[in-house]
Amino acid sequence: MISSTALAHESKIYSQFSVLYDRIFSNVFAKRIDQVIGSMNIEPGSRVLEVGVGTGLSLTAYPPHCDVLGVDLAEDMLSRAQRKIDRSGMDHVELAVGDAQALDFPDDSFDYVTSFHVVSVVPDPQAMMREMTRVCRPGGRLVIINHFRSPRRLVASVVDRLDPITRRLGWRTTLGASELLDEVELEDVRRFKTSPTSLFTVVIARKPHPDESVRAAG
Ligand SMILES: C[S@@+](CC[C@H](N)C(=O)[O-])C[C@H]1O[C@@H](n2cnc3c(N)ncnc32)[C@H](O)[C@@H]1O
Repeated sequence: MISSTALAHESKIYSQFSVLYDRIFSNVFAKRIDQVIGSMNIEPGSRVLEVGVGTGLSLTAYPPHCDVLGVDLAEDMLSRAQRKIDRSGMDHVELAVGDAQALDFPDDSFDYVTSFHVVSVVPDPQAMMREMTRVCRPGGRLVIINHFRSPRRLVASVVDRLDPITRRLGWRTTLGASELLDEVELEDVRRFKTSPTSLFTVVIARKPHPDESVRAAG
């Protein structure tokens, strides 16, 4: 595992929390992540970057015929993910310490860039979105699962009141999906919920080829 000294406030919370994380969240998150990754039909030989991989709840969902790199700022979370990798012999998965807002990879490096429950945790979600798009190859897919601010005003105003509390726990409730999506140029954008009552939205989109963006602009 590659390591770094950077540790944002948000990740410090997750480091302190890493012991309890799977017990609290695996039931809430893992099934949806499995369903979404399974639906992507990831092709053999694909390079996948998962940003904010945490304790690796998602890792068993990736097919062994692709290469997965998971990055996160919190080394304690990554240690737990590493244990899962070792236990299950997931030779196709590697981990590294890294900041979602300043990814240490060249442009167009990955076929899939995924991130689950992270965009409302980082201080600058727009920078994270730009970085995820930058490192995805043209024609590659971005896959995000997150809670976003409801477009329904009443629901949003109630949930907004929880924001000061959830911020202390490390995430904000006020981030709207369009605040992210307006930041970058994407196509075939699909936004959906895996069940009508789910609090979480799945966003799947394609990074256009440069000539396609020029054509669309002209
Ligand atoms: C709610 S957890 C989600 C973990 C995992 N994706 C999941 O669905 O279980 C948020 C994760 O984002 C990580 N994180 C916070 N700030 C980050 C940053 N700037 N760069 C990379 N990871 C970050 C935390 O350490 C934590 O593991």
